[in-house]
Amino acid sequence: MPKYKIAWLPGDGIGGEVLEAAKIVLEKLSLDAEYIRGDIGWEFWCKEGDAFPPRTIDLLKSVQAAMFGAVTSKPVKAADLDLAPKLRGTGLVYRSPIVRMRQLFDLYICLRPCVSYPGNPLNYKEGIDLVMFRENTEDLYSGVEFNPVPAELSNTLITLSKPFSYFKDIPGDQYAISCKVNTRKGSERIIRSAFEFARKFHRKKVTVVHKANVVRATDGLFLETAKEVARDFPEIALDDANIDAMTMWLLKNPHNYDVLVAPNLYGDIISDLCAQMVGGLGFGCSANIGEKLAVFEPTHGSAPKYAGQYKVNPIATILAAKMMLDWLGEKQKAQQLEKATADVIREGRVRTYDMGGSSKTLEMAEAIAAKL
Ligand code: NAI
Ligand code: MG
Repeated sequence: MPKYKIAWLPGDGIGGEVLEAAKIVLEKLSLDAEYIRGDIGWEFWCKEGDAFPPRTIDLLKSVQAAMFGAVTSKPVKAADLDLAPKLRGTGLVYRSPIVRMRQLFDLYICLRPCVSYPGNPLNYKEGIDLVMFRENTEDLYSGVEFNPVPAELSNTLITLSKPFSYFKDIPGDQYAISCKVNTRKGSERIIRSAFEFARKFHRKKVTVVHKANVVRATDGLFLETAKEVARDFPEIALDDANIDAMTMWLLKNPHNYDVLVAPNLYGDIISDLCAQMVGGLGFGCSANIGEKLAVFEPTHGSAPKYAGQYKVNPIATILAAKMMLDWLGEKQKAQQLEKATADVIREGRVRTYDMGGSSKTLEMAEAIAAKL
């Protein structure tokens, strides 16, 4: 029996190509694992009306970790048109499988390390080493949304919220509401994870990203919780910044930051900004971590315009595989893989199109594997 059971979820577009690249390096490392392929994504929405079929949910219940490529998503109307004719107009609603996966398995940590590997021609500045902890289940992504707004809700809001009385003459189908929901529990566990990480890896500072001066209820709760949690970690400095100012300061001086923690939406934005500073989508890797399951993925999407060409950069996915090795406790293999990747980047002989080269996806994987 192999030591690890890992779900293998290629998804759509380039998802399969980058996972193929990750398999090359994992096999070279002789990870004692069984990789079990699972169905996910647009293809299954079109065929079955479900982008995340129950059999894939069952698979995820039976594994320690998963590698996920990317899926295609489309707006509701376009989604309906793509369904198999017999399913069209049946009222099926497309929901992103990755968002469902995060909620169903309570993958509350979205961890995104951003390192500027020396020699990467795409680095914005050298010496960047940031770790982003994004809350992954609540906030504006809680899925509590109304369009049109039902009369019960608008009447309640008009009664309870003074600024909202302005809406009383607007018909419910003329506006929409998306609720930002932050709980103390949800805030505490992500903030605590960030501090525990900082303690374990001897990091100096945790910066909380928020907009508590304007979004007082939810972001206020997040910031207040951070101040409470920080008391348990006296050796680590607590810092905080407004989301808008943060984007500016990060660009001006990324070296001032160390570990960042944020509610879902701000975390989503900041992690893309951080990824861009260290090479863009070809370098952005991510882990979705819960108590029982962790899912590792590149942050990019299915890039339909490149699908089938084997030209995209697999480094994001290979670094996601490195994170998986760390998470499984395979520290030595993780270190080996990171060093091999960093060496290939530094030497600059193999570069994909985004790095200004013409190497193909699997050539990059082979070059990294050759150093293992
Ligand atoms: P995308 O990330 O798929 O691609 C945007 C562009 O970034 C590409 O056209 C390409 O120029 C570049 N790019 C992406 N990955 C790259 C790589 N590995 N190497 C080099 N260049 C790379 O974003 P887009 O085009 O906005 O979305 C395409 C589809 O992917 C949509 O249906 C979207 O909903 C979905 N998506 C899925 C995500 C996921 O599965 N987690 C995340 C983001 C988007
Ligand atoms: Mg992804």
